[in-house]
Amino acid sequence: MALRRLCERVLGPSGLGVEPDTRGFFVRLQGRALASSAAARGRCEALVYHQHGEPLRVIQLETLKSPQLRDSDIRAQMLAAPINPSDINMVQGTYPILPDLPAVGGNEGVGQVLDVGSKVTHLKPGDWVIPSDTGLGTWRTEAVGDMNGFIKVPNNIPLLCAATLGVNPCTAYRMLCDFETLKPGDSVIQNAANSGVGQAAIQIAKARGLKTINVIRQRPDLQQLTDSLMSLGADYVITEEALRKPEMKELFKKVPRPRLALNGVGGRSATEILRHLEKGGTIVTYGGMAKQPVTVPVSALIFNNVKIRGFWVTQWKRDQGHDLLQEMISELCDFIQAGMLMAPVCTKIKFQDYQTALEAAATPFISSKQILIM
Ligand SMILES: NC(=O)c1ccc[n+]([C@@H]2O[C@H](COP(=O)([O-])OP(=O)(O)OC[C@H]3O[C@@H](n4cnc5c(N)ncnc54)[C@H](OP(=O)(O)O)[C@@H]3O)[C@@H](O)[C@H]2O)c1
Repeated sequence: MALRRLCERVLGPSGLGVEPDTRGFFVRLQGRALASSAAARGRCEALVYHQHGEPLRVIQLETLKSPQLRDSDIRAQMLAAPINPSDINMVQGTYPILPDLPAVGGNEGVGQVLDVGSKVTHLKPGDWVIPSDTGLGTWRTEAVGDMNGFIKVPNNIPLLCAATLGVNPCTAYRMLCDFETLKPGDSVIQNAANSGVGQAAIQIAKARGLKTINVIRQRPDLQQLTDSLMSLGADYVITEEALRKPEMKELFKKVPRPRLALNGVGGRSATEILRHLEKGGTIVTYGGMAKQPVTVPVSALIFNNVKIRGFWVTQWKRDQGHDLLQEMISELCDFIQAGMLMAPVCTKIKFQDYQTALEAAATPFISSKQILIM
């Protein structure tokens, strides 16, 4: 329901305002024919889906008419927006919260403010903003919405950092802070270490003096990926297969057993990382890329008393509100400005070439976040 309310606030009651809408919110014009001239103010191009399904099949580029600006609204030109796994799940219709259809894809990205309504005092044209909640539909060239739906970020940080700041670094930050009290020298183990969340976790952990044990899948370019994660600040990079080998004992002579495990995969990978937890440690599940349930060995519960937890950044943002989110974003931006937090490895793709980006986003072992550049 909350997502529906947000979509209504941003897009009008029918998601895209295709139906007559008293505010004149995003009225759909026509398909690709108008797309190239849509840069003109008052219109925008958007990646729209009218039904759930595989993104390549159901998403199309359409031209929408922008709504009138209300007193508390801002209008932003979208600059860049990533394709995250949850965006794909939302289009597929498998995500726990779904917008009404038709809808515009994408939940994360950065925009530059073009206009503000008369009641907006803390934002001005030229400022950069990111959405404060899920559901904006960021795969569009222009967005209009209530000022409270956006968080200001400095416009001197790298574009790709701003475009990918609101979801994965926030998730990594919260998981490293909110579940175990960790001190410098303590260690954290995580799977999907090359994911957007994983890369952010490596860097935030490093900034806090924590050691990371990073698990990735076996692949042809293993050494290259290992080097890349080490250059971000990873202390150890191992494959899922290595997790099951006796050599792990040698590793724990060099680094303390982790009190915290971050699980973005599920299935066997999750079981294997939680086996290495310190007694009483916590495994936090935030993703399920393997689409397999998490199986917890009885011995881990009885003899190691591990805690099994989950985390969802969307819920955190809704529960904690704008001020705490702004505080965390400011701290993450300080990390970025200090050179301690970089964007994940990215591939920039022209917005109009969205099909190439969607295809790449669905390719395993690609190790690169697809970013639509508007
Ligand atoms: N709970 C939350 O609040 C929250 C927030 C952000 C993200 N997430 C979730 O976290 C996960 C990662 O998101 P992201 O944006 O960081 O991802 P990403 O940058 O797109 O990376 C995807 C990761 O998943 C791995 N992967 C893909 N298929 C896999 C499989 N079958 N088995 C094992 N690993 C697999 C990839 O490894 P390879 O390179 O080996 O393919 C890569 O490490 C997603 O499930 C996402 O929905 C949750």
